[in-house]
Amino acid sequence: MNEALPAALTRPIDAGASGRSPPVALVTGAARRVGAAIARHLHGHGFVLALHHRASAAEAAALAAELETRRPGSTLLLQADLGDTAALPGLVHATLERFGRLDALVNNASAFHPTPLGAASEADWQALFDSNAKGPFFLAQAAAPALRRSGGAIVNLVDIYAERPLRGHTLYCMAKAANAMLVKSLALELAPEVRVNGIAPGAILWPEAGKPEAAKQAMREKIALGREGRPEDIAEAVRWLLQEARYTTGQILAVDGGRLLNL
Ligand SMILES: NC(=O)c1ccc[n+]([C@@H]2O[C@H](COP(=O)([O-])OP(=O)(O)OC[C@H]3O[C@@H](n4cnc5c(N)ncnc54)[C@H](OP(=O)(O)O)[C@@H]3O)[C@@H](O)[C@H]2O)c1
Repeated sequence: MNEALPAALTRPIDAGASGRSPPVALVTGAARRVGAAIARHLHGHGFVLALHHRASAAEAAALAAELETRRPGSTLLLQADLGDTAALPGLVHATLERFGRLDALVNNASAFHPTPLGAASEADWQALFDSNAKGPFFLAQAAAPALRRSGGAIVNLVDIYAERPLRGHTLYCMAKAANAMLVKSLALELAPEVRVNGIAPGAILWPEAGKPEAAKQAMREKIALGREGRPEDIAEAVRWLLQEARYTTGQILAVDGGRLLNL
């Protein structure tokens, strides 16, 4: 029935092309928080992982050790600042050298901080665009040949604020809007071999800089489901887009408990 379709469109990412090797995912910003949840979830579903971090070396090593206990030989640690464009092909090459293939790229790493109008600097611009727009583009470009070979997929972590502005965060919102367009543009560029989708989380984990309890409560009241989400909600959606959503590309799925309905 499917003879006319390219193999990449019919083969789920559940095994290597040979049917023997496990699928391989490169996850950026994997050491902590949502990235670590994505890594654990994919690993639990049989992926081997290239775990990228920038500064969280100890957390990345601890995560790798935890996953290695469950499945020896299933992780590779990678370090880079996503602003260092020249270093990004090296992440893909190291992954291919170690595991021999690449099936999934998860562009999760991101800087997030306010940039109130009148006080925003070029350093803010650089940090927010490096991690949310420039890095994901150049990493995807470097990964594209390997992903085409495997019939793989990309998932970008976008944000509901790519679509609607968050007060005081113009540069972050602009960078995530670029990230959202990257999803759509890459989906067109890399079809039909590679599917490219995004997830727009709502309130999942509060910023580490902190948020007053009253502000958290006010936010919860605007979420249709009445509560923040869990990192695992995002991880499940990432895996679904990577492995199950075989006829979905160029889409950005809001996993926000209905927050966008009431923004
Ligand atoms: N948390 C939420 O509720 C929420 C809401 C909406 C969207 N999102 C999106 O979901 C994703 C995960 O969220 P999160 O809150 O878990 O993210 P996060 O903790 O704010 O950041 C994830 C990681 O990004 C890495 N990173 C930042 N700048 C980098 C750079 N220039 N180069 C390389 N790595 C860099 C950091 O790695 P190191 O620690 O190793 O330096 C950091 O641990 C992000 O894309 C975020 O925008 C999250």
